[in-house]
Order: sequence, then structure tokens, then C-alpha cells
Amino acid sequence: MIDSPRGSGHELLDESLQGAPIVVPSQPTHTRKLYLESYGCQMNFSDSEIVVSILDAAGFATTRDETEADLILLNTCAIRENAEQRVRGRLRQFKSAKAERPHLVVGVLGCMAERLKESLLEQEKLVDLVVGPDAYRDLPNLVEQVNGGQKAVNVLLSREETYAEISPVRLDTNGVTAFISIMRGCDNMCSFCVVPFTRGRERSRDPGSIVREAHELFEAGYREVTLLGQNVDSYKWNLDIKGQVKDPDQPVVRFAELMELVAQVNPELRIRFSTSHPKDMTDDVLHVMAKYENLCKYVHLPVQSGNTEVLKRMNRGYTREWYLDRMAAIRRIMPECAISTDVMTGFCGETEEEHADTLSLMESVRYEMAYMFKYSERPRTLAERKFENDIPEEVKSRRLKEIMDLQRIHGTARTLAQKGRVYRVLIEGTSKKRDDQYFGRNTFNNVVVFPKGDAQTGTYVNVQTHECTAATLIGEMTEAKADA
Ligand code: SAH
Ligand code: SF4
Ligand code: F3S
Repeated sequence: MIDSPRGSGHELLDESLQGAPIVVPSQPTHTRKLYLESYGCQMNFSDSEIVVSILDAAGFATTRDETEADLILLNTCAIRENAEQRVRGRLRQFKSAKAERPHLVVGVLGCMAERLKESLLEQEKLVDLVVGPDAYRDLPNLVEQVNGGQKAVNVLLSREETYAEISPVRLDTNGVTAFISIMRGCDNMCSFCVVPFTRGRERSRDPGSIVREAHELFEAGYREVTLLGQNVDSYKWNLDIKGQVKDPDQPVVRFAELMELVAQVNPELRIRFSTSHPKDMTDDVLHVMAKYENLCKYVHLPVQSGNTEVLKRMNRGYTREWYLDRMAAIRRIMPECAISTDVMTGFCGETEEEHADTLSLMESVRYEMAYMFKYSERPRTLAERKFENDIPEEVKSRRLKEIMDLQRIHGTARTLAQKGRVYRVLIEGTSKKRDDQYFGRNTFNNVVVFPKGDAQTGTYVNVQTHECTAATLIGEMTEAKADA
């Protein structure tokens, strides 16, 4: 659907996808219409597929046209202040719609709902419904409550909810790639981050249901799945928090074993995952990646900062040296593996020297791709309570620009270095720019564009690349053997 590198992490999706309405075919029995917009990370987009599944069962058909909706839901993100501002702006736009159509119900879901709870009802007078990420099963009841004339709120977080057995309704799908949520919540408490407050405690989903979902997707023609979690390296099944086996008659499944189980679903099913955490990424995960060709050679490993003192203030649980050791491990175990990251500038107390350490770390790693942000203070976080948000806006902006400029050089150089090779490419769809061309990805997550010939979407082809732009390889199909 897009020709730009797709985020494979917890990082934000391509801007063009943000807020895009989603639609599934309506059924005649479905008399009420739902209009749903999603913001934020892949987890949120994946949750929207659960929400549609639950509301579908309650008789809602989805629509792309907000003017014909009976129920408007925004699945929101709270990661940075500007993410919330966008949602507030959008809610104001629904004001006139509500004046014209008094029966219209407007609801806020997701991380902003969880962060602001009941106060959203007072702050944004036009909101009728506030539902946190662990309460979506309650949506049909809550909507009825609103229809009965009351406002409705459910922001209870759960220690168990994983929506394991709910079949997501695949939204805006190309029929080739899909997300599988493998865990929820986060126990890490990075000092800048709102996610532990909005998503609650970490819990892993039953591996049997994950493997079943991967099988079903493969049978339905999908050829790539992305396993999603805030910190996939701490996935665990049948182990308690202290690492003790819960049920000796059941197998213990950690992330490395889970990857192996999903890799064995079918060699023609590609697997990606997101997001890894540098403090938890172990060599056994890397060895499993190296062992199976269908586990894509791509790791998104957010660094945030290249300075150990800043990392300490961020409560990230690793040092610059540890992070560089993980980079070395990836390169040792998989000589060819693309690496991307998230970087944050202007965190509390960040000096020019500390900022320079981030630039030097980027210089030594030379990331394929990076998501780069200015630090935004979030209420209730450790950083808000303990540190001063003391880096002036213009300094944050200047540092961000330096980081982006450097990344642009590295990204372009990496794409250029990939040119000229033959890749096994999974065709995802028609190129956004040219109707007679397909786009797909190689194992390294590079976008590859080439003339369609008689190939079909959802199949693998070998593509000889001969040109490139900053982030896209251009080529043509070949009978030659693929290099990667
Ligand atoms: N679970 C993932 C990422 C979570 S949020 C991890 O631990 O890496 C995605 C990215 O948003 C983070 O990696 C970070 O770079 C950025 N981010 C999170 N909180 C932020 C804040 N308060 N201000 C600016 N960027 C933030
Ligand atoms: Fe936030 Fe840290 Fe958890 Fe990522 S690992 S979601 S940055 S608390
Ligand atoms: Fe994702 Fe935003 Fe929530 S990044 S977990 S939707 S705060």
C-alpha cells in the first residue's frame, strides 16, 4: 500500500497511514455503522482489528464515510504531546456532526483514553465513551449504555487480557502481510515513557493461539506476519515473574522458541517482529533468526541515546557498551542483517557532549533506518517527577536535525550499497507511483520496485536491482538465483 519503508517496530507508522479510516465489507444484518480511525503504533492498529471484530459481532458494519456513521471511534496514542493534540483537533471536528446528528456516539479508545480516563468526558464535552486497551470486550455494552442516555467509561487494566481467541478482522489489508499481537503491556518503566501507564502490566499470549493464527493467515494467502509486543524479547509462557515454571507438564516458551514455532508454520511464510529491547535481546534469538531463512534478517533495536549517563536517567537498563556489544552479536551471528533504531533528542539534562555521543554511536552502527523524536514530557512518568525538562525547544530541534541529517546520509549509503544484487522479494501490491509496477520487500525490509510482468501479488520473485532512490531499490524480475 505504501512504497516507503514500513515500520517494523513499536515505532510510529508512516504518516500517510496515521488516522486513515479503515473499512471492511458490510453485511446485510449489520444495521449500524462504525467509523474508526487509528493513531500511534502497530499495536494500536492491531487492536483496532480486535475492536472491529468485537463490534462486528454486535451488529456494526464499518464505513469509510464518517458522515453516515452511528458510532465514531478514535483509537488513540499518548506517546508524545503532539500525538494527543492531533486527536483533540479531530474531536473538535466532530462537534458540528454531533449537533446535526444527535444520535451519533463519539468514543475515544486506546492509550489517551487510558491516560485521561473520566477527565476526557469533561475536557472534551463531545465524547460519550472512553474505553482503555484492556476493556474492548465491554464495548457493545458500553455503546448500549450511551444509547440509553448515559456517558460510559471502562478503563480497567487487566493482568490477563490478551484477546487470544478473538479473530481479528484484517483491516485495510493487502492480503499479504499481517500483524500478530503476541503480548500486551510493558513492565520496563523507562523514565520518559507513558506506555506502562496506558497499557498496564506485561503479559504474554498463549503460544498455541499465536501459531494457530499464523497457520490461518497462511491458509488465507498471507505470506508475512509481524509478531508484535512492546518488548518481544521478554515474551514468556508458562513461567512466572520470578522465572519459575508454572506447570511442569507444559512446555516453557520464550521468544526464541516462539520464533522457531512460527518459523515452522511454513517456509513460505516470512516472519518479522517488533520491538526488541537491547537489555533483553539474547544470542539465542539471533541464532534462531540465523537458522531459518523465513525469519527476516532485520532487527529494530531502539537505542534512544548513545550516552551511558543519559541511558541511566532514562532507566533503559543498558550502557552504550552493552548496546554496541549487541550490535556486534547481531553482525557476528548474521553477517548480513539490517538494523534500525529509535533515537530521542533533548532528554532531561542532555549536554552537548552527551548528544555528540548519540551521533558517534550512529556513526559506528550506520543504521539502515531510524525513527527520531524530540523528547516530550509525559505526565506521571518518572522523568516528569524526578527531572527537569530543561532542554530548550530550539536546542532539541537543532539536535534532532543533526541526527536526521546524519541518518539521511547513512540510509542513502545503505540503499546504494544494496543496489546491483538479486533479491527474493515478496510482492505486496501495485506501486503507489506507477500502475504497471509492483512493490515488495526483501528480507532486509528494503522496498523494491519493478515492472509487473505476469507475476501475482503475494508471491515471491527474484529481482535484479540496478537503480535506487534514497530508500527504494529499482529493478526487474530475473531467473537468476537470489543473493539474499
Ligand atoms: N517499546 C519500544 C518503543 C516504545 S515507544 C521500546 O522500548 O523501544 C516508540 C518510541 O517512541 C520510543 O522508542 C521512543 O524513541 C519514542 N518515545 C517514547 N516516549 C517518548 C517521549 N516521552 N518523548 C519522545 N519520544 C518518545
Ligand atoms: Fe516504553 Fe520502555 Fe516499555 Fe518501550 S520498553 S514501551 S520505551 S517503557
Ligand atoms: Fe502505541 Fe502510542 Fe500507546 S505508541 S502503545 S499507541 S501510547
